Amino acid sequence: MCGIAGYIGYRDAYPIVVNGLKRLEYRGYDSAGILMYNEGVHISKTKGKVADLEASIAAEDAKIGTLGFGHTRWATHGEPNDENAHPHVSNSGDLVIIHNGIIENYDTIKKELINRGYTFKSDTDTEVLVNLIEEIQKTNKVKLGKAVQLALNEVIGAYAIAVFDKNKPNELVVARLGSPIAIGIGENNSEFFVASDASPFIEYTKNAIYLEDEEMAVIRVGKKIKTRKLSDDSLVDHDIHELKMNLEQIEKGGYDHFMLKEIYEQPHAITDTFRGRLLVNEGIIRMAGIDDHIEKFQNANRIIVVACGTSWHAGLVGEYLFEDLARIPVEVEYASEFRYRNPIITEKDVVIAISQSGETADTLAAIKLAKEKGAFVFGVCNVVGSSIARETHAGAYTHAGPEIGVASTKAFTTQITLLSLIALKLGKANGNLSHGQYHAYLNEMELIPRKVEVLLSMNELVQHVASIYKDVPNCLYLGRGYNFPVALEGALKLKEISYIHAEGYPAAEMKHGPIALIDENMPVIVIATSKGHYEKVVSNIQEIKSRKGKIIAIVTEGDTQVKEIADHVIEIPETDELFTPLLTTIPLQLLSYHIAVMLGKNVDQPRNLAKSVTVE
Ligand code: F6R
Repeated sequence: MCGIAGYIGYRDAYPIVVNGLKRLEYRGYDSAGILMYNEGVHISKTKGKVADLEASIAAEDAKIGTLGFGHTRWATHGEPNDENAHPHVSNSGDLVIIHNGIIENYDTIKKELINRGYTFKSDTDTEVLVNLIEEIQKTNKVKLGKAVQLALNEVIGAYAIAVFDKNKPNELVVARLGSPIAIGIGENNSEFFVASDASPFIEYTKNAIYLEDEEMAVIRVGKKIKTRKLSDDSLVDHDIHELKMNLEQIEKGGYDHFMLKEIYEQPHAITDTFRGRLLVNEGIIRMAGIDDHIEKFQNANRIIVVACGTSWHAGLVGEYLFEDLARIPVEVEYASEFRYRNPIITEKDVVIAISQSGETADTLAAIKLAKEKGAFVFGVCNVVGSSIARETHAGAYTHAGPEIGVASTKAFTTQITLLSLIALKLGKANGNLSHGQYHAYLNEMELIPRKVEVLLSMNELVQHVASIYKDVPNCLYLGRGYNFPVALEGALKLKEISYIHAEGYPAAEMKHGPIALIDENMPVIVIATSKGHYEKVVSNIQEIKSRKGKIIAIVTEGDTQVKEIADHVIEIPETDELFTPLLTTIPLQLLSYHIAVMLGKNVDQPRNLAKSVTVE
């Protein structure tokens, strides 16, 4: 977790770093800090957000300079306070570091350094690392780059770091293991940008390289970047990526919150997931990542999906899709459990790793484990060039565009869209879908973005329902079949941004426990679409009603039965059962959003959360 942003070149570094950090706040926002070099080191840091940091910097000197770097933190070691905020400075005052990640053996190193006379101001593992670099630099009489390399070979853990030595004010040293680093390159190497992703420098350069794990780079203005392997110092040649995102994509575009903007972007985002893939007129789904490895999927004993959080929910929808359409057995695993339980994986397994950020530590570790055991690993990621995208054997991007709101919305629907495309493609290839059925699905799928728009036009109705239930302490979400994962996702959305306790269940499980919670104060959101065990869900609704629970039902347009029993009804347009999650999700996202806004919560940056969970 944490975001880092830095600049070295000819421009004023301060606005670049501060604005860059604001774009990276999705990675953590409990404290922030900045280094500026201007014939001397100026460090400012504070508990709170980047805006608090800006407000706290009174001295003009602290904003001047053409070299600077900064950090927005999500605490791992040491509580969020001014002292634990980054940057951290070595005992001599010469070296300054920002760090994203965890140094697991920091305690042992700290004890050794204390024995050698070092003192520490913070509780962080990062301050230990900067002093270790200093100690190595002093004892071995080596340059900063070499000292960083030797130090990193002694640490266990994960890191993306930028290090500055005030005796070498025209260079920065960066390195990564497990946490991302993108380096933006200015024309003729006249300036460089360093960041956790490319968003901080998108308006300055479209050229970037991404460090791989266990690599470092010494960055000097006017010189071509040299990237080296940390293990043996060998040079690595990196391709320069051309960045495709633009600034408008990462700004709010008139919406009050990124989350709302991203909810409204879904028709467009789903269309982007289709683009060049769903070729309805030709009757084909074209996906190079699948086409090139189709036999792996066709010969697979089973598909194992690994993911976390919302991406895991998308994986559960994938289970229904793959089993239903392609008749391939599927297991959906929390990446964090999978990686630690000695799972049985064979070369005949295909692992699909789903991740919006492409940086989730547990998912990345699960991929590495699956690869070690010989499985073919396919990635479904949103962030282009992310660690997971690079670690997998093949994959497909969701092309949802940057998702800044911490609560995932368009990432979820585009993941489901992509999984639907894959399942349909495999269903056709395996001969499980008739020609007519396959074509009917393709035609229907193309209509989904328009149907999402219809749902978005019901915003006011959802807002009204939100105003009635905004003060409840608890909420239940029920769904069956394809919509069981949507119930889980609806509950997750509500709890993470409004802090209201919510649980999602398969509707039939209600009578095995949760029904005890139902009384006149309990709102129950039930997904009761016409094509998904409708009659059975209606019985579940009756059970809630007879216990005086409040029912908010998501039904198919034209429904009459549920309308008579439910307190509130939101209608989705008619569609095939397999596509219903793409529609039923929308009102649940809007409901959580409005409740959180009405409660005055920080919708885009809920407490304790970060967008990209790069620590386990
Ligand atoms: C919830 C949410 C998280 C993420 C999870 C995995 O709204 O965003 O639950 O889905 O942390 O993140 P990715 O998809 O980046 O691997």
